[in-house]
Amino acid sequence: MRILVTGAAGFIGAAVSQALVARGDAVFGIDNLNDYYPVSLKHDRLARVAAAAGGQRFEFRHLDFSDDTALSEALADQEIDAIVHLGAQAGVRYSIDHPMAYARSNLVGHLALLEVARRRQVRHMVYASSSSVYGGNAKLPFSVADRSDHPVSLYAATKRADELMSESYAHLYRIPLTGLRFFTVYGPWGRPDMMLWNFTRRLLAGEPLPVFNEGDMYRDFTFIDDIVGGVLACLDLPPEDDGGEKAGGSRAPHALYNIGNNRSEHLMKVIGLLEDACGRTASIEMLPMQPGDVHKTYADIDALTDATGYRPGTSIETGVPAFVRWYRDYTRT
Ligand SMILES: NC(=O)c1ccc[n+]([C@@H]2O[C@H](COP(=O)([O-])OP(=O)(O)OC[C@H]3O[C@@H](n4cnc5c(N)ncnc54)[C@H](O)[C@@H]3O)[C@@H](O)[C@H]2O)c1
Repeated sequence: MRILVTGAAGFIGAAVSQALVARGDAVFGIDNLNDYYPVSLKHDRLARVAAAAGGQRFEFRHLDFSDDTALSEALADQEIDAIVHLGAQAGVRYSIDHPMAYARSNLVGHLALLEVARRRQVRHMVYASSSSVYGGNAKLPFSVADRSDHPVSLYAATKRADELMSESYAHLYRIPLTGLRFFTVYGPWGRPDMMLWNFTRRLLAGEPLPVFNEGDMYRDFTFIDDIVGGVLACLDLPPEDDGGEKAGGSRAPHALYNIGNNRSEHLMKVIGLLEDACGRTASIEMLPMQPGDVHKTYADIDALTDATGYRPGTSIETGVPAFVRWYRDYTRT
């Protein structure tokens, strides 16, 4: 198959592109290489995917997909069987000061990709949503059957809007769509704006760790290899247009899944694992809860396991040291 991957220079997009070329698919990757975090990391990820593809099966185009004219032109002579749409403006805290970046990439951009899926009649589009759509949901673990209409950040609101726009397209145009609600993805080639990277950098530099909500936070951490396996398994399983109810409640060919680790880990436990892996003792700066943050995330993954056999295999006891080993090697620290 030939797959359009958006956000191909991003953390998850590069890992998914690499896995697709490794299994023999061809990838047409696009990314606008924005400077939300260092662009050098995005170039390094792209170089790694290109090397894995051995000069074949991976083509990259520097492009902003919220520009639908530029997007159509770039795709005009490209064969595309399916789409993995992972490009977005990510991050909860950044959305407080940069709301329009979310409107462009996550709202206009998502609609532009739905339009590509409609015009090109692709066999399936898998797209990224987020655990943040659950807001402050008190019922745990979070299930795709739970309500998700009380977002506590603009980022979450745009991700929920993506799900709703997708539902209307699946209903109107019968395009098979799968939305994946990712839960705190981490691992080698990860994101510098995320907690694990930030804390590793600080620990190794001897700087204090800013710990929000006095450390009383829980996250369902998902290792990148488990995420990649789940994305590929979903890509191979377009929801059928048979009128049956899909995960998430749609009767159109549109499924929604949580893709997490099904374990909610206390932040202080993660800090302990980081201390062990770095061989350093952390100095902690306790801070209040940040606006837009949620206290706890915890994924019910039964729907995804039932549909695809997805079983995450990486605990934080394995994944955190693996990340630290990669980080020290990559940053030479
Ligand atoms: N990493 C996580 O823990 C996590 C959790 C929940 C949801 N998600 C979602 O998963 C997806 C991938 O996340 P990631 O961690 O790889 O983030 P990332 O920031 O590393 O990757 C996103 C990529 O999209 C690109 N991009 C943004 N706007 C674009 C545009 N308008 N045109 C072209 N490219 C654009 C960026 O340059 C970046 O390389 C995103 O949709 C994100 O919201 C990630």
